[in-house]
Amino acid sequence: MVRPFGSAPFPVPALGLGAGHLGGPEIDDAGVDALIGAALDAGVTVIDVARSYGQAEERLGRALAGRRDAFVLATKGGYGTPGIPDWTGPCITAGVDAALQRLRTDRLEVFFLHSCPRETLERGEVVEALAAAVRAGKVQVMGYSGEGEALAWAVASGRFGAIETSVNVCDQRGLDEVIPRAARGGMGVIAKRPLANAPWRFDQRPVGDYAEVYWERWQAMGLDLEGQAPDELAVRFAAHQPGVGVAIVGTRRVEHLRRAAEAVAKGPLPLALDTAIRERFRAHDQGWVGQI
Ligand SMILES: NC(=O)c1ccc[n+]([C@@H]2O[C@H](COP(=O)([O-])OP(=O)(O)OC[C@H]3O[C@@H](n4cnc5c(N)ncnc54)[C@H](OP(=O)(O)O)[C@@H]3O)[C@@H](O)[C@H]2O)c1
Repeated sequence: MVRPFGSAPFPVPALGLGAGHLGGPEIDDAGVDALIGAALDAGVTVIDVARSYGQAEERLGRALAGRRDAFVLATKGGYGTPGIPDWTGPCITAGVDAALQRLRTDRLEVFFLHSCPRETLERGEVVEALAAAVRAGKVQVMGYSGEGEALAWAVASGRFGAIETSVNVCDQRGLDEVIPRAARGGMGVIAKRPLANAPWRFDQRPVGDYAEVYWERWQAMGLDLEGQAPDELAVRFAAHQPGVGVAIVGTRRVEHLRRAAEAVAKGPLPLALDTAIRERFRAHDQGWVGQI
């Protein structure tokens, strides 16, 4: 099941792999290699990584050797280049080159500016540097990853071919305006955090955990799952929202990746259930903003 990614020259599957958990000590090269093999087998051929995900880019570079062409590869940056101030043109230029090296490739399908503020975008320097990387053939599509007013600015600017933003049962803010607008403008949309960080795993508030905000929302929404497994319901909801090109599940486990792929292949949730989830969010929304 592939679909267009805005007006990009490559299609995407409905499910991709987010590499946010692949850079730390909880997984090693062999684990990443197994995950990439399983991803390929399951048709999960989009990978999203970032400069800030520990060793993830390096590990993916190794794991993708010999099978790079089977994947659409997106990374994110704008910071973290030694000796160069973050969020400057030179930092983008050198950051793209360094990402290519770490990922052992000669081009990136998408390079996302990773959550820089609107003022940085407005200054123009980083956007122009990314456009130069496209002209140089190092990047195919310019992307902006983030939320709120910076994301809205990026979409309205017409400069970007892709956005990455949170879409899940507990984070639906983008579905009302910014995602439809991006889709109408020919932008590919990556739905990040599609499982809402799996808040159902926690009986008690996971204080300080990445999932805490979504856990609160999950409790407040009190969804009727109508007999569906929560992971299946969550990923089907995110991957099949109008305008979404690909949802990137973040996992270190082959079995979780396979489950997500099987769920997404079932297609959209029944319309009544999808509508109920949308209504539940609106009914309980306490000014819930998109989570970076
Ligand atoms: N641009 C940005 O600023 C930004 C921010 C956040 C995320 N992202 C991207 O989006 C990707 C996904 O976001 P995310 O990883 O934060 O959130 P997510 O995909 O909503 O949830 C991932 C969490 O759910 C667990 N999980 C996965 N499948 C499960 C299942 N079937 N049952 C129970 N738990 C399950 C994972 O642990 P296991 O390892 O145990 O499966 C992991 O802890 C990231 O990897 C990253 O690529 C980007």
